[in-house]
Order: sequence, then C-alpha cells, then structure tokens
Amino acid sequence: MKITIVGSGYVGLVTGACFSEVGINVTCVDIDRNKIDKLNEGIIPIYEPGLEDMITRNMKKGRLLFTTNIQEALIDSEVLFISVGTPPDEDGSADLKYVLAVARDCGKYINDYLLVVTKSTVPVGTSQKVKEALQEELDKRNVSIKFDVASNPEFLKEGAAIDDFLKPDRIVVGLESERAEELMKSLYKPFTLNGHPVIFMDIISAEMTKYAANSMLAAKISFINDIANLCEIVGADINKVRKGIGSDSRIGNKFIYPGIGYGGSCFPKDVQALIKTAGEYDYELRVLKAVEAVNNDQKLVLFHKIMKYFNGDVKGKNIALWGLSFKPQTDDMREAPSLYIVNNLLKAGAIVKAYDPIAINEAKHHFGDTISYYEDQYETLIDADCLAILTEWPEFKFPNLKIVQKLLHRPAIFDGRNIYDKDEMKQNGFDYFCIGVNT
Ligand code: NAD
Ligand code: UGA
Repeated sequence: MKITIVGSGYVGLVTGACFSEVGINVTCVDIDRNKIDKLNEGIIPIYEPGLEDMITRNMKKGRLLFTTNIQEALIDSEVLFISVGTPPDEDGSADLKYVLAVARDCGKYINDYLLVVTKSTVPVGTSQKVKEALQEELDKRNVSIKFDVASNPEFLKEGAAIDDFLKPDRIVVGLESERAEELMKSLYKPFTLNGHPVIFMDIISAEMTKYAANSMLAAKISFINDIANLCEIVGADINKVRKGIGSDSRIGNKFIYPGIGYGGSCFPKDVQALIKTAGEYDYELRVLKAVEAVNNDQKLVLFHKIMKYFNGDVKGKNIALWGLSFKPQTDDMREAPSLYIVNNLLKAGAIVKAYDPIAINEAKHHFGDTISYYEDQYETLIDADCLAILTEWPEFKFPNLKIVQKLLHRPAIFDGRNIYDKDEMKQNGFDYFCIGVNT
C-alpha cells in the first residue's frame, strides 16, 4: 500500500517513520522547503528518541520519501493523512487554515479514489469541512471522483512517540464508509497484532475523543497541583498523598505527578479549544475553565517561592536553571513552564544561567541573549545564588551534592519536579523547596 502524509512535524514524521517501518510505502509532504531539503539530507528537524535511526533506515530502503510536491505524492496513494498544525487562533479556537488548505490541495490533484484521514487535533465538525472543501475543488474541476473522509486522532507523547505509535493503548478511528473501514483495518493491522485495539466509531465522536482525552489528562494534573498547594498549607506531603491515592486502581498512578503546570504544544491549546467549542454551543465547561486557571497559576509557583526566599528582591541575583524543555526527552519549548518562569525572573531583575541537555538551541529562539547558556549542568552553578529544577531530565536525579553545595553562594534548591528527597537535601545542608511539601 502507498500512503501520503501531509505535514512533517512531530506527528507527521513519527507517523511516516512508523508506517514505513512495517513495510508501507510512505511519502511525507511539507510546505517548508528547508525542512524537506534537510530531511532528504538525513537531518531530522526535531529531537525524538529513536526517530533519526528509523527515518534513515527506511529512507535507505526506499520506503520513506520526502517532498514538497503534494500532487506527485498523491499519485497511486490510497490514503492521505493530514497532520499539519492546528495552532490556537487569537480567541483560543483551533485555527483550521492549514488543515483546509490540504483538503483543497487534495481536491485539486486527485484523479482516483482517496481516503482523507485527519490526524491533526481538530474540533468536532472539521472532517465535514474537509469534505466540503475537497468537494468544492472537484466541482471547480467539473469532475466526479469518489473519496472518503475519516478521523484518526493521534495520542503519542513527545519523548516516547515511537513506542506510543508502535504499541498504542488504542487506535481511534471515526469513519462513515465500509471502504474506509477496510483500508484503515489493513493499514493498522501490523500495530494491532499484539492486541492493541482499533476502536471504530462515528467521525464526530472520534474528534471529540481526542479533546476529551487531553482534557482529562490536563484535569488530573491541575487537580493534583491544586491538592499539592493545599498539602503545603496544611502540612501534608503530596508525594505520600500521590502514592496513597494512586494505588487505588480506579484513580491510577499515572498523570498525578505535581509540578510547575502542564506545558507543551497540546494540553494548553486543546483545553482552550474545547472550552471555545463548548461556548459556540452556549455550553460552559466549568471544570475545564478551572483546570486552565489552576495551570496558569501553577506555572509561577516556583517563581513565587524564589521571590519569597530572597525577601521579594532578586535584582542582580544569579539564578541557575536545570531544564528548559516542557518535559524530558524532547527539545520542544512550546508553552514550557520555563518560558513563564524565566520571563518573570528577568522582569524582576534576576540574572538567569541555564542548562538543558537538548533544548538549548530551541531555547535560544525564545530567550535570545537575555539569559546565558551552559554546556555543563555544574557550570551554571558558578556564582549562582540558587538552583531551580524546571525539567526532570534523568541526569539531574543524582547530582554530586558536594559540588552543588560548594559552587552555590547560598545552598538553596527549588525543585519544580519533586525529584529529590527533602530529608536527604536537609541532611546535606540545603534549603530545599519543592511542590506540595512544607519544607
Ligand atoms: P508541527 O508544527 O510540528 O508540524 C506541522 C507541519 O505542518 C509543519 O512542518 C508545517 O510546515 C506543515 N504544514 C503546514 N501547512 C501545510 C500544508 N498546507 N501542506 C504541507 N505541510 C504543511 O505540528 P505537530 O506537533 O506535528 O502537530 C500536528 C497536529 O497533531 C496538531 O493538530 C497537534 O495538536 C496534533 N498532535 C500533536 C502531538 C505532539 O505531540 N506534537 C500529539 C498528538 C497530536
Ligand atoms: C500529551 C498527551 O499525553 C498525548 O497523549 C497527546 O497525544 C499529546 O499531548 C498531544 O495531543 O499532543 P505531550 O504533550 O507530549 O503529550 O506530553 P505529556 O507527557 O502528556 O506531558 C504534558 C505536560 O504535562 C508536561 O508539561 C508534563 O510535565 C506535565 N505533566 C505530565 C505533569 O505535570 N504531571 C504528570 O503527572 C504528567
């Protein structure tokens, strides 16, 4: 089978690499010529564990191609996935201009049956709009060509994307024709042999499933952060409370880690977009509004702890930061809590020195030369007045505490990810602050 994937970002590249890995012929398309040229030279534009190997291996086998020419890519393709961005519009709703541009391209260039599958995260009703945009172009050409639309939202997590795609908990497919069902069944067969189910449903339910899943996960995080803040006030320890509630299988122990708020390219925008969609139907999603409000405050919890420690004045203080990406194993800085913390520290007059194992280049796009960057985590501590941990990269988990102690002016650690043991930190002479524990 030959398929086309339009949009070669996180989702498009992982989807393309994984389908080609199981033997399907894939052409990935993007309008960004620079990106496609680099991919053809074997340069992968994002950091995602395992992706570079998989892409180069399948390119060599001739099963994975990259092009800017969608018309060429469509020749002999039975299925096309739309995996372009759906960034928030000014009012918070999902901007569909990239998705609909691809739909129109399909209408301009297809000469045979095509199943158009939307993998981008899109509001309910979008597949219908895709159908209409494509049909309009066919009408302009005055041709009658059969096509189907389907919705196949993606649930991969950055940093674990390949594994999530190859061994998904489930694959959700919304469709409305038997032909589309047969195609999707055979396409996903290699990924479902080990019992990972494809859940077929109608298109609107599939579109809603994606937003409901991300919103539920975001709600778990805001809930635990809210409880963490209360734990600090009443003298409870959120790390113990988390274990206590997570061992109830109805609650589960995943996605209840307190921290400095959820970031990334999806939770913040998807929560916002679902609130917006509900509003369009005169319905208020009260829980989600609270989820968003808690998260906005949580992004600054660590900043406020630092301010308090320095009696409200960080002017001229050197603050060392470990971790800038929105989570470990990615260089993605979109909506990273670090963006908010750094900007507030700078506004308050602090000097920021940062280290991240992978995200420094991305961070430079955001902060330019307003902060300084280091290639070694300990170098950030030279002349620093305190250390703050913003991302729980594994290499931060067992630092040489003697070196940290020796280099810091004041032995203060602000741990936004609860990766250290408070008693151990105290025994080693640190002033230690984390989330949800009164230290
Ligand atoms: P991205 O910004 O990394 O990549 C999108 C790509 O689409 C860009 O390279 C852009 O140049 C290209 N593009 C835009 N218009 C185009 C057009 N008309 N023709 C061809 N290419 C075009 O985006 P992403 O992170 O891969 O996300 C894509 C979608 O998937 C979004 O809707 C997102 O919400 C959803 N999603 C993302 C993730 C994730 O972890 N990043 C996970 C699940 C779902
Ligand atoms: C998330 C979802 O987990 C994916 O299933 C989904 O496909 C994706 O969004 C998407 O739609 O794009 P991702 O944003 O890559 O994936 O990362 P997550 O691991 O979900 O983390 C998101 C944020 O939540 C991070 O800032 C992380 O630090 C935070 N988080 C996560 C917590 O604060 N606590 C937790 O317990 C878990």
